[in-house]
Amino acid sequence: MVLENAPSSQTTPAALPPSVFTLPQTAQLEALYTIIRDKNTSRGDFLFYSDRIIRLLVEEGLNHLPVIPKTVETPTGATYEGVGFEGKICGVSILRAGEAMEAGLREVCRSVRIGKILIQRDEETAQAKLFYAKLPQDIASRYVLLLDPMLATGGSAIKAVEVIKEHGVPEERIIFINLISAPEGLKTFCARYPALRVITGWIDQGLNERAYIIPGLGDFGERRYCS
Ligand code: URA
Repeated sequence: MVLENAPSSQTTPAALPPSVFTLPQTAQLEALYTIIRDKNTSRGDFLFYSDRIIRLLVEEGLNHLPVIPKTVETPTGATYEGVGFEGKICGVSILRAGEAMEAGLREVCRSVRIGKILIQRDEETAQAKLFYAKLPQDIASRYVLLLDPMLATGGSAIKAVEVIKEHGVPEERIIFINLISAPEGLKTFCARYPALRVITGWIDQGLNERAYIIPGLGDFGERRYCS
């Protein structure tokens, strides 16, 4: 049987916040997700196909950056009235899984600066706690592409944005890029930072009792670095 229609397996929350953008939900994209969700997929294939999705997400993220009018002369001698990129960008990955998205950003933005943030759960308070942050020194004057493949409860992402904002970046200049999100985390995150944009590849059904995304793909870091 050949399926010609668009995929049907995405959970569509009643109304997505206006700050959330998903990739076009094509059958091609669903085929990529089907491969990376499959527990029998080899590490090599997981790397290859998750990188393909990451590339699509980064390109979509860049679509949200401003441009200004720019006129060039083509080799034919004609004038072309186009646009040019405006504003500087940087990436910030939330360790460790977000590091896997850095190469995808570097592929499309040559010599882009990338900072790192490590957040872990504080066992005493059960809150997300900052352990390490190394951010570009001029981050306040840049657009920030914040990278984390899995948005589960939203705790780490919320903390990461708090840190970036403390470094002088306004919410409107932060674009969160992620492969799979749980509706619960998405709702909490967007309610906390309504002016920040979220680019997500897929919105899943929800979280299980261990805060794993369902159906999800398991532990992204494990699948990418260990299996
Ligand atoms: N992080 C993961 O790697 N997987 C999940 O399902 C949730 C958070």
